[in-house]
Amino acid sequence: MSNNTEQGVMEKLVSLCKRKGFIYQGSEIYGGLAGTWDFGPLGVALKNNVKALWWSRFVLGRDDMYGMDAAILMNPAAWEASGHVAGFADPLVEDTKTQKRYRADHLLEAAGVDPKGMKAAEMDAAIKEKGIKSPDGNPLGDVRQFNMMLKTHVGAIQDDSSVSYLRPETAGGMFVNFKNVVDSFHPKLPFGLAQIGKAFRNEIAPRDFIFRLRELEQMEIEYFVKPAEWEAAFESFRKEVREFTKDIGLSQEKVHELEVADEDRAHYSKRTIDFEFDYPFGRKELYGLAYRTDFDLTAHSNRSKQDLSYFDEETKERLVPHVIEPSFGVDRTVLAVLADAYREDELGGEPRVYLALSPAVAPFLACVSPLLKNKPQLVEKAKEVRAALAKAFPGRVAYDDNGNIGKRYRRQDEIGTPFCVTVDFDTVEGKDAPLDTVTLRHRDTGEQERVAIADLAARLVA
Ligand code: GAP
Repeated sequence: MSNNTEQGVMEKLVSLCKRKGFIYQGSEIYGGLAGTWDFGPLGVALKNNVKALWWSRFVLGRDDMYGMDAAILMNPAAWEASGHVAGFADPLVEDTKTQKRYRADHLLEAAGVDPKGMKAAEMDAAIKEKGIKSPDGNPLGDVRQFNMMLKTHVGAIQDDSSVSYLRPETAGGMFVNFKNVVDSFHPKLPFGLAQIGKAFRNEIAPRDFIFRLRELEQMEIEYFVKPAEWEAAFESFRKEVREFTKDIGLSQEKVHELEVADEDRAHYSKRTIDFEFDYPFGRKELYGLAYRTDFDLTAHSNRSKQDLSYFDEETKERLVPHVIEPSFGVDRTVLAVLADAYREDELGGEPRVYLALSPAVAPFLACVSPLLKNKPQLVEKAKEVRAALAKAFPGRVAYDDNGNIGKRYRRQDEIGTPFCVTVDFDTVEGKDAPLDTVTLRHRDTGEQERVAIADLAARLVA
């Protein structure tokens, strides 16, 4: 219980996630597949809550946003136009003996050199100058750029003509549908397209649990504005991104903003702010907010020979809108939420592990139990209470009658359930407490209070 080093916390979190059914290693029975993880029943519940909050804030809660769900596979010309085929690369070095590959910037960081802004040749020079070796102690080869797009073949013929890519960002599917949405809905600028979906990156070194993945999920917005209005939209989304981190209950002192230097921005961006989070393994990128200018619409227009300009009915002006892009990793959000919530304390003289998850994201909002499972009148009443609460909070109310009540509380604490509701003899007999009242227990403090069943739903604040 005392190993609370950064690595210790991560090990405990990974183990809790597996034990309790949040997150499992991908293809575990075959020895795994690096950079892939599977979400179990509780993980998917947490993840769905995160995605629902995002969709609610950024799509349902606004009248200038259009939801999308574009295909993962796209015509490869789209990725040529977007610059990903030529430029979506990370700097790679190879251990000359083992042939294992590493990110050059990660090795420099580990050796105390800040790689920010360095080009591949500069990293190469720094590695040689410092005499940096591979983690196995062997000499390293030259730094090369490595394209991270995952290639596949579409159709029956496997040659160059059938090459396609699993999308490396969801953004592309929105740019290629810009004209479709304009034609269908005639939106006025500014407006946005939003979608949640999988993206794939052949990361050289997937690591830190679900932080750096090869198969990941993104929640992205492409917000189209008149060129002169980009700064106002950028500032507005800067605040909205921050608000979203509050929606999911992240400790605000752990969320930071970093103005990304010119040399470190993606090829399409003229300004980027990274939202960083203090993970147990250090301060790392959680989200990005980028000003993509008219880069994408112009590039797709040139390549597809389609007119992707916009005609402003009010000013009678034709223009290519500029784009503000807030981009959120779902998996990094789940990891931030879990790491932020992980707690160890002592309750009733016993050590305890619990997740102080916000009620808004916890897999279950509440768990209902009968005090004893062999008393039919308690069981019947508990099931009735559970059914009533489940109507108010569909899918978010658990039922547990296994083991003694203390064990049930600990089990719910460990998966972050904010409230436990216990139906006891007073509930049905009303001797020492009023009839139709239950015990409501609060996860973080372990405090218990007597609450009327009729008031329960209002007390479980999601
Ligand atoms: N469309 C812009 C874009 O994709 P990005 O900074 O490359 O920008 C956006 O990625 C977000 O996607 C990141 O801030 C992060 O949350 C998430 N992300 C990127 N690469 C990831 C990876 N390998 N594993 C998990 N999440 C990742």
